[in-house]
Amino acid sequence: MPHSSNGWFGQHVLSVNQFNRSKLEHIFEVAHSMRSMVERFGTADMLHGHVLANLFYEPSTRTSSSFNAAMVRLGGRVLSINEVVYSSVSKGESLPDTVRTLECYADVIVLRHPEVGAAATAARYAHVPIINAGDGVGEHPTQALLDLFTIQEELGRVDGLKVAMVGDLKYGRTVHSLTRLLTQYHVELVFVSPDMLKLPPEIVAEVHSAGLAYRETDDIHNIIGDADVLYVTRVQKERFSDLALYDVVKEHYVVDPTLMARAKEEMIVMHPLPRVGEIAYAVDDDPRAAYFRQMRNGMYIRMALLAAVLGKA
Ligand code: CP
Repeated sequence: MPHSSNGWFGQHVLSVNQFNRSKLEHIFEVAHSMRSMVERFGTADMLHGHVLANLFYEPSTRTSSSFNAAMVRLGGRVLSINEVVYSSVSKGESLPDTVRTLECYADVIVLRHPEVGAAATAARYAHVPIINAGDGVGEHPTQALLDLFTIQEELGRVDGLKVAMVGDLKYGRTVHSLTRLLTQYHVELVFVSPDMLKLPPEIVAEVHSAGLAYRETDDIHNIIGDADVLYVTRVQKERFSDLALYDVVKEHYVVDPTLMARAKEEMIVMHPLPRVGEIAYAVDDDPRAAYFRQMRNGMYIRMALLAAVLGKA
């Protein structure tokens, strides 16, 4: 197993902008080692004596549970505050004070929060690493790492691929983070969304500045035959102030066996999950459906990140 935190010891993980290709390769190498370790032994004692605080102001299944499992599999312990309503947050305690409280008990804090920039705010007050587990419609950097790791694992490369992002590109923070990471690679990007859910212009501008070929469309049928990666997302109901607009777009795309019949044999379908109808259950047994493998990769990536920021990779 590689024994270097590659400069991550004590660092916050707030944005994908902190990762260049060399740092990505290092984290992926450690994640590989974590997978081998889990498959052979199940657990290790690398983080024995360390404590993770999982602080979630928004619902989560995968991110919360995989960080929890990652810490436990490395021999550490976890404080979970998944329902902040039952914490002193409900009495009006601020985010900075909540973070300063948890750092008295934990060595690293994983934070999900509905406001863009909340993780950066927490990091200004914290003396232990903060890992951004999603800040509103901003970023979800650990998801983007596991997404990129999955593309690499499934297809053996990232350079040269055509990646289609489908669905809610406006509010989908996983799309924002993954798109930013992909600007470091030689990929072609296709953004497939209804007009009201297009990728924010500032992220389109970043893709443009990186010199990548890209296009925007609302027609999934025209692009499905060329895509190497179909990255499907849920329409984020919780971000809509007008639910009538949500009803207009919620079932705009459904990936089903009929659509899959038009896709390449070696393409993969990814989804950060949860899904709410945009991928039919009938697709799950298709070998190209990578979303459950993607979900498992999340634990290995988060094991690698925890080990790195705690100086134990
Ligand atoms: N992909 C993801 O962030 O899932 P959860 O909301 O369940 O954590």
